[in-house]
Amino acid sequence: RLKSLGKKGRNGPSVRHVHVIGAGVMGGDIAAWCALKGLTVTLQDQDRGRVAVAQGRAHALFAKKKKDTREARAAADRLIPDMDGKGLRHADVVIEAITENAGIKRALYAQIEPLMKHGAILATNTSSISIEELRSGLQAPQRLVGIHFFNPVAKMPLVEVVETPETDSDVKAAAHAFIGQIDKLPLPVQSTPGFLVNAVLAPYMLEAMRCVDEGIRPETVDAAMVAFGMPMGPIELIDTVGLDIARDAGQQLSGQASTPACLEARLARQELGRKTGQGFYQWKDGKPVKQE
Ligand code: NAI
Repeated sequence: RLKSLGKKGRNGPSVRHVHVIGAGVMGGDIAAWCALKGLTVTLQDQDRGRVAVAQGRAHALFAKKKKDTREARAAADRLIPDMDGKGLRHADVVIEAITENAGIKRALYAQIEPLMKHGAILATNTSSISIEELRSGLQAPQRLVGIHFFNPVAKMPLVEVVETPETDSDVKAAAHAFIGQIDKLPLPVQSTPGFLVNAVLAPYMLEAMRCVDEGIRPETVDAAMVAFGMPMGPIELIDTVGLDIARDAGQQLSGQASTPACLEARLARQELGRKTGQGFYQWKDGKPVKQE
């Protein structure tokens, strides 16, 4: 399963145009990353405001990564807002990153599949819904593949390629090649709950919150795991991912409806982590404020 890790996919025709549907936390940042890496990207959302916010984040990324302002501007020009979804017909890869709901995703696929270019890949960024559940109803179900980026996209090298025994081998190869082309590391995983990374991370984060419930301070839990060698402590990670998402993932993967009390209390106050400025930590300038 791990054999392709560390090797960039180099086979298959190179991708020129990516169409991303859903300009939220993930879709916006996936679109920005692909534009940074030289691809033409059309970005579609039902909500114009989300596309504008995503463009703002993308411009900040381009300014940070491209010291030459002309290069930063060229990357910005490659990222094209596309409210009508016209880019769908020309794209080599279509990445769906809309709301995590199987019915809504399937309804979208029914609309877009007949419009896609022949041979284009339809990929979903879902983090928890099985490929089998999503592909039922497609005319070419064997061509749907998971391309699962992690948050924050610009910092996380790994991308899971979620496949099933029925997935077309050319689709798998093309997905791996595409991920290599944008300088990420493809990891083939089966369509099982949590795929690989989240299946391991969910219980780890849950146990960290149980420590907080037992009275250990978040700062202490995080400092211990950083001293152990993790790049970031689990509580800070939960704040980064979002407390609502951590709850949903934990419930789905552990099969337990109950959530740790420290998480419940913050969810009740709408303290969702970095995105709301307050979670287990208060967030200032993109960093958690930790007490000594
Ligand atoms: P989000 O809620 O930030 O963004 C979803 C966007 O989809 C919204 O802007 C919404 O307007 C748009 N949308 C919904 N239905 C649409 C439709 N039919 N047509 C066009 N646009 C539509 O969600 P987020 O967090 O970006 O998640 C998107 C996907 O990525 C989900 O499948 C999620 O499981 C997955 N994911 C999320 C991660 C995270 O850390 N948030 C990490 C990895 C995967």
